[in-house]
Amino acid sequence: MKVVRGGTVVEATWSGPADLLIEDGKILAVLQPGTPVDDDAEIIDATGKLVLPGGVDPHCHVGFTSGEFTSLDSYLECTTAAVFGGTTTIVDFAIPRPGQRPLDAAESQRAKATEGLCDSALHACVVEWDDTTAEQLATMADAGIRTVKMFTTYAGETMADEHTILNTMQTTRDLGGMVIIHCESDAIVADAQNLAARTDGIDASNMSRTRPELAESASVAAVLAIAESQGAPVYFVHQSSSDAVELVADARKRGLVAFTEAVAHHLVLDDSEYSGDEPERFVCCPPLRSADVVTGLGTHLFTGQITTIGSDHCCYDLTQKRSHRHDVRHMPNGLPGVETRLPVVFSKYVSELGLTASRFVELTSTNPARTNGLYPRKGSLMPGSDADIALWDADFEWTVDIDDLHMATDYTPYQGRRMRGKPVTVLVGGRVVVHDGELVDATPRGRHLEADPLDFSGAFTM
Ligand code: URP
Ligand code: ZN
Ligand code: ZN
Ligand code: ZN
Repeated sequence: MKVVRGGTVVEATWSGPADLLIEDGKILAVLQPGTPVDDDAEIIDATGKLVLPGGVDPHCHVGFTSGEFTSLDSYLECTTAAVFGGTTTIVDFAIPRPGQRPLDAAESQRAKATEGLCDSALHACVVEWDDTTAEQLATMADAGIRTVKMFTTYAGETMADEHTILNTMQTTRDLGGMVIIHCESDAIVADAQNLAARTDGIDASNMSRTRPELAESASVAAVLAIAESQGAPVYFVHQSSSDAVELVADARKRGLVAFTEAVAHHLVLDDSEYSGDEPERFVCCPPLRSADVVTGLGTHLFTGQITTIGSDHCCYDLTQKRSHRHDVRHMPNGLPGVETRLPVVFSKYVSELGLTASRFVELTSTNPARTNGLYPRKGSLMPGSDADIALWDADFEWTVDIDDLHMATDYTPYQGRRMRGKPVTVLVGGRVVVHDGELVDATPRGRHLEADPLDFSGAFTM
C-alpha cells in the first residue's frame, strides 16, 4: 500500500487537499489530508505539489512511416519521454502502409504496447473502403480499437474519399466507435502549393502559405455534413484556427456529437517561426498560424469549445527535417512533443493566463480518456481508477533545453523557452517511475488498453 500525502488533488470537476491511497496499481481511496493509514504504507510526500491524474495524449505517432521518412522512436523511448512530461497513457495510430490492410497494421502496432513504460491505446486507420473493411473494423472494435483515423489530404498516401469517410462513419457508429479526422481540403492545399512553387518558393519558410486556414475550414464543413447525414460522432484532430473550432461548436449546437482537439504547438507557437533561421524545425500540418489566430484558438480553451489537447508527436530529427527543406511537399511533417505537451500548455495557459488546473486536467487527461473509451480507468483519480499520477511543482521555473529532454531526437521546437510549472514525480500503475526528475524504474510494463464502446449520451456531451 502507498499513500500520496499532503498535496492538492486536481480532478476535472474539483480540486482540494486530499491524500490518495493506492493498492494493486489502483486508487483505493481519496482521503481527508492526514488520515492515518497502515504503518507499513509507503508515503509519497506531495507537500506543496499539485496531484494530477497522469496525462492522456490522444494523438501520438510512434515510429510512424510517412512517405520516405519514419519517425525515430520506439515504444519505450516515446513512453519514457511521455512519463517525464507527466503523460502516462498515449494513444498511437496504426496507419496502414500502401497495400496493407488496416487490421494488419493494427495488429502489428498493438504488439508493441508491452514495450512501453506506460499503457497505450490505438487508433485504427482506413484509407480505402472495400468489401472487407466493415469486418475488419468489427474485429478491431472487438479488440478495443474503436477510434478510426481518416485524412482528407495527403493524396496518394492516406487520403480517403467521401464514400470511404461516409461508410467508415456509418460502420464505426454502429460499433460504438468514432471517426477521428485530419481535415484539410487537398485541392486547396495542392493549388496553394503549386502557386507557391511558381512564385515565392515552396521551401520551409513558406509553409503557412501552402496550407491556408480556408483549406481546413472547407474540409471540416464537408466532413461535418457527412457526419450529420449519418448521425455519427466525429472528432477533429489538431484544429488550428478559431474558424474551424467554431464550425464544430455550431454543429454541436445543432445536436451533433462533434469534438475538437487542439495540439500544443498550435496553442503556443506562431508562424513567425517560419521567418527564423531554421523554419524546417516547425514544419507540421496544419502549419503554425498567425499570432492572432493562436490567441483566438487559445481563447477556446477557456470558453469550452476545445475538447482535448494532444501532442501530434512525430519524433523526426534535424537531419530528417533538413533533408527536403527546399520543398515542403517532400518534407517529414510533424514535431516532437509527447514530453513537452503538458508543460508548455501548463506554463502558458495555467501559470501565465490563469486557466484553472481542473480545466487543464479536463483537456489533457479526462476528456482524452473519455473520447477514447478509457474513462474512468484513465483520466481520473477516483477510487478504482489506475494509479497513474503526476505530482506537479506549479512554481518550478526552468528553461527548455533539448539536452534535458528524453525524446529520441536532437531538437525541440521550444528550445530556450522559459517555463513555469513541471511534473517532478510520476507514478504509473502505482509504481514511482520518475522521482524528483530522475528515472527510478525503467522496466517496461506497458499494456494495450482496450477501449470501451463510446457512449456520449450521458453527462459528457461537450
Ligand atoms: O504534421 C503532422 N501532423 N504530421 C503527422 C501526420 C498528421 O497529419 O497527423
Ligand atoms: Zn527524398
Ligand atoms: Zn494530421
Ligand atoms: Zn498526427
